[in-house]
Amino acid sequence: MLLDEKTFTKYLSRHEIDAAVLKLAEQLNRDYAGKKVVLVGVLKGAIIFMADLARQLTMETEIEFVRLSSYGKARTSSGTVTILKDIGADIRDKHVLIVEEIIDSGRTLRFLYDRLKASSPASVEIVTLLDKASKRVVDVPVKYVGRAIDDQFLIGYGLDLEEYARNLPDVYFLKYPN
Ligand code: IMP
Ligand code: MG
Repeated sequence: MLLDEKTFTKYLSRHEIDAAVLKLAEQLNRDYAGKKVVLVGVLKGAIIFMADLARQLTMETEIEFVRLSSYGKARTSSGTVTILKDIGADIRDKHVLIVEEIIDSGRTLRFLYDRLKASSPASVEIVTLLDKASKRVVDVPVKYVGRAIDDQFLIGYGLDLEEYARNLPDVYFLKYPN
């Protein structure tokens, strides 16, 4: 089944993930000290990372979510991004931090970054737990990266395989895709 060890191998343990989250939080706590920040999580993948990261942040935060479509059930980006659920807050003159669990082609975040910028926030930055930099198709300004990773299809800690496995506390890679 889904977590047959012949198919999935552990890639990052929960301890390694915790360490990466803590390191990011320390950077953010320094850079945003004394500021108010609107965290914008990208549903659904970022929920677990958002929950862990937000609890390590010491500045004042609001938590918002967007839901974007680009992948559907496919494992590669389709190139077209649409908004399924928008943020509820007015971000004008506010510091916005996009919270994403993984960046692949960059298409999803390029779209979101440009869209949020258009609302005249004080700043927009991106924090991602995982970055598949070698897969980038579209340039996207990512300031905070937890771990740079190889081109591998990962599941767990929010990442799904056709909607399953988001709840796994560790990250696994798929040995035999398709
Ligand atoms: P991008 O637009 O190609 O950068 O795609 C980013 C989105 O694709 C992420 O937010 C994830 O939801 C999804 N994604 C990218 N790589 C993986 C993966 O290895 N496993 C699961 N989902 C992924
Ligand atoms: Mg995502």
